[in-house]
Amino acid sequence: MNSLSSISENVSVGCEKAPYQRVRVIEHEIFAHRTRRIRIECPEIASRALPGQFVMLRIPDRNDPLLARPLAVYDTHTHLERDRTSSFSFDCLDLVYLIHGKFTTALEQIKVGDELITWGPLGNGFSLPDVDHLLLVAGGIGQTALLAFAKECLGVKRFGNPFRPATLSRRTTLCWGARTGSFFGGIEDFTSSGVDVHLATLDGSTGIQGTVIDLLNAIPPSLLDRTHIACCGPEPMMAAVGAWATHHSLTCDVSLEAPMACGVGICFTCVAKVRDSTGSWDYRRTCVEGPVFRASSIDWD
Ligand SMILES: Cc1cc2nc3c(=O)[nH]c(=O)nc-3n(C[C@H](O)[C@H](O)[C@H](O)COP(=O)(O)OP(=O)(O)OC[C@H]3O[C@@H](n4cnc5c(N)ncnc54)[C@H](O)[C@@H]3O)c2cc1C
Ligand code: FES
Repeated sequence: MNSLSSISENVSVGCEKAPYQRVRVIEHEIFAHRTRRIRIECPEIASRALPGQFVMLRIPDRNDPLLARPLAVYDTHTHLERDRTSSFSFDCLDLVYLIHGKFTTALEQIKVGDELITWGPLGNGFSLPDVDHLLLVAGGIGQTALLAFAKECLGVKRFGNPFRPATLSRRTTLCWGARTGSFFGGIEDFTSSGVDVHLATLDGSTGIQGTVIDLLNAIPPSLLDRTHIACCGPEPMMAAVGAWATHHSLTCDVSLEAPMACGVGICFTCVAKVRDSTGSWDYRRTCVEGPVFRASSIDWD
């Protein structure tokens, strides 16, 4: 092993419960403008992953960027020729990423057959609500955390090992906002699962011109009975959705996109200010106590 790869392996973290592993890229495709979907072969992770959880990802033999990046579990698949005795329900994980900065620009160059380093599944994921209506709210690339949850709540797919019991919601709606329409990718992944999708763009190129708050305001009040919101996107947008939920007396969970280094609770780079029931606050590690928190518990200032 050369010195570069030795450093690279050493700065991969993982832990006993989520040791880092080298995984093979099976598919890598254009998904939307500056957005890619990558499918990796990782049965131990895919079979255990829950909606709202994430994995840490690094490119082997590289130290720039030094730190791994967290990416949400978008979906799971069965891809390989299955051995009948296999205990794995799924063997592949789909991740969807926006080409943004150092890591994602380098990730775009990865080819089918190449290897990546990953560890997971990590974080708490979304809890299953006992409601009639699951209202998903996504901003930008935030929809990646929500597809698996929609599938689970609509009874299209089950997750976890053993599968966790799902409480089905009668209706699932996605309100999704982006800067412009070319950033929307995988809409059919939601619609084919039975999700009612509503789109908004700032430039009006797709859907209504406006934000997800405009989409939420257009929902008839009669559809908000026994509704729970699950939300992921830029922080100001999640704060606004949390405030909208409070105004409408609805529960709202948000998946925070805090920068992370280890993903397993060791480094404290990912802390968020979270309030408890007494109103006092403390820092919580987004990677292990999150990334999903009740929106009303977050100190957004
Ligand atoms: C739990 C979790 C799940 C995530 N899931 C996805 C996903 O499914 N798809 C996806 O594309 N991204 C996701 N992210 C974000 C992802 O981890 C990276 O931060 C993002 O892809 C940018 O990495 P980069 O190296 O390309 O950019 P960088 O070079 O790291 O950053 C470019 C610029 O963005 C800023 N920045 C980086 N990360 C953040 C952040 N989280 N919040 C605010 N500013 C930031 C940097 O300060 C810098 O100015 C997730 C993050 C978390 C915590
Ligand atoms: S990313 Fe290291 S403690 Fe959360």
